[in-house]
Amino acid sequence: MEVEEQRKRILFGRRKGKPLRKTQQKAVDKLLPLLTVPLDADKIDLPALFDHKVDQYWLEIGFGGGEHLAWQAEHHPEAGIIGCEPFINGVAMLLAKIMDTDIENVRVHNEAAERLMDKLPDASLDKGFLLFADPWPKTSHHKRRFVTDANVEALARLLKDDAILRVGTDHADYGAWILHHFLRSDKFVWEVEKPNDWLIRGDDWPKTRYESKAEREGRKSVYYRFRRVARGA
Ligand SMILES: C[S@@+](CC[C@H](N)C(=O)[O-])C[C@H]1O[C@@H](n2cnc3c(N)ncnc32)[C@H](O)[C@@H]1O
Repeated sequence: MEVEEQRKRILFGRRKGKPLRKTQQKAVDKLLPLLTVPLDADKIDLPALFDHKVDQYWLEIGFGGGEHLAWQAEHHPEAGIIGCEPFINGVAMLLAKIMDTDIENVRVHNEAAERLMDKLPDASLDKGFLLFADPWPKTSHHKRRFVTDANVEALARLLKDDAILRVGTDHADYGAWILHHFLRSDKFVWEVEKPNDWLIRGDDWPKTRYESKAEREGRKSVYYRFRRVARGA
């Protein structure tokens, strides 16, 4: 697939599931308009997005029910975190959690991440997370995978020099696909110190809901850390 064609991809997953619970609907009605990232300007003004000054900007793509995102936000008040998730039921779960806590450093994009990524400034992100993206196992569906050369290139544009992108998957074929795409980019290197690094999640990387399900079903996960090569290095 050509790079331009890849960028024009539409969302392949679901936008809606079963009806929201009362508390979730309340959280969506109250918080979604307040926390949605506005996309009307040419580029997103990151410092203006957050009410309090933050030192870093992080992006989580496809946060599902938001367990990982909420954990990171609670443990890293110094970071302003944007979460992208087109599935409203997942967004509702995150917002219901936010209602119950003091989390103030999260903003939400309830659409495919690509639309928001296009509007983020160059070298603006300190960290990224792509955790258990849909593996689309059938060969005829591989073109639906989030990891494409175009999205690797887009992430390289957005991440600051030496910023880390964490990518997890429980799907062996997608795991190989992800490595192949990041390693063939000259803008990322795979951060590994020990031979089994990629099999260890690490203390500041909590399990996601999808990963827990994979574990219950007997699938092992892998945890990649890709570092954005410094520009001009
Ligand atoms: C397998 S789930 C994993 C969710 C969560 N990260 C976890 O590990 O529990 C993949 C998620 O990616 C979301 N997704 C699919 N395409 C996306 C896109 N283009 N941008 C952002 N999120 C996307 C789906 O709606 C889904 O919630």
